[in-house]
Amino acid sequence: MGKLTGKVAIVTGAGGGLGRAHAMLLAHEGASVIVNDLGGSRDGTGSGSSMADTVVEEIKAAGGQAAANYGSVTDDGAAESMVKSAVDNFGRLDILINNAGILRDRSFKNMTDAEWDAVIDVHLRGSYLATKHAWQQMMSQGEGGRIIMTSSTSGLIGNFGQANYGAAKAGVAGFMRVLALEGMKYGITVNVLAPAALSRMTEDLMPDTPELADRMAPEKVAPTIAWLCTDDAAKVTGRQFCVTGNRTSLLSWQSQVLAEKDAMDAPWTVEAIGEAIESTMEQWPKLLKPMEV
Ligand code: NAI
Repeated sequence: MGKLTGKVAIVTGAGGGLGRAHAMLLAHEGASVIVNDLGGSRDGTGSGSSMADTVVEEIKAAGGQAAANYGSVTDDGAAESMVKSAVDNFGRLDILINNAGILRDRSFKNMTDAEWDAVIDVHLRGSYLATKHAWQQMMSQGEGGRIIMTSSTSGLIGNFGQANYGAAKAGVAGFMRVLALEGMKYGITVNVLAPAALSRMTEDLMPDTPELADRMAPEKVAPTIAWLCTDDAAKVTGRQFCVTGNRTSLLSWQSQVLAEKDAMDAPWTVEAIGEAIESTMEQWPKLLKPMEV
């Protein structure tokens, strides 16, 4: 018996890359999986059914249960149908992996409104719409649930040329933090994945070597996500996991008081607050670089 036997999952953008790896492993662990994919190109243009169909066939060939869904996560009606298809095919919904994504990279001075909007639409609004319908279904079942938001170090730390993507990926992390609090009393956990893997999305950003293909395989990211979906992880919520190859890191924040005086005192002068802040700067944690987590 697998760790997810009896569970029903949706993985968005599961026609390739990380989503495919998540879907395959969830199914291997016994979950029935809705494999969603719009089937377009890396920048989000076009559509087709073959990507989702191929992964469904792979899951079935390996002895698992799966059904395809071809809707765009940016379409409210399609997101509703995707959740309905989990219920129609497999009777319920326990797990939502928000994974679908596109890129329209450009330095900010050259970025167009269309490039900004398309990326925010798929990552942030797409995660919102799928989660909205999944949340309703999980609440009506009354047995909790598991939701993963796929963020990125581009949003949590920063990356040149990805202002649209970074804003969207920071947005899904903020979305996660609020839902984690709201889901607590219902047993719905919500966590963030910030992955790094070799996929269609990153193939021209990383050297094309067999060694890297192995080290950065999407299959190495999936086990952390599958574990977060198990009953064992019922108390893990509101967290950000950075997963690269076989390394899983927790990305957390710490608050550091820089200046304080009695709340009933007069406000700081600009000069005095400046001096107080400057006197602490040597002790500030350094800004992380994406590959350091
Ligand atoms: P990928 O391009 O292989 O997979 C993304 C999938 O989403 C594609 O199959 C695509 O058809 C699908 N998709 C795109 N728009 C869609 C829509 N509107 N509705 C439904 N499906 C749609 O890329 P990869 O690398 O597997 O990315 C998966 C997720 O991980 C994305 O959210 C990405 O931003 C994130 N990520 C990936 C990193 C990496 O190193 N590969 C790094 C950081 C984040």
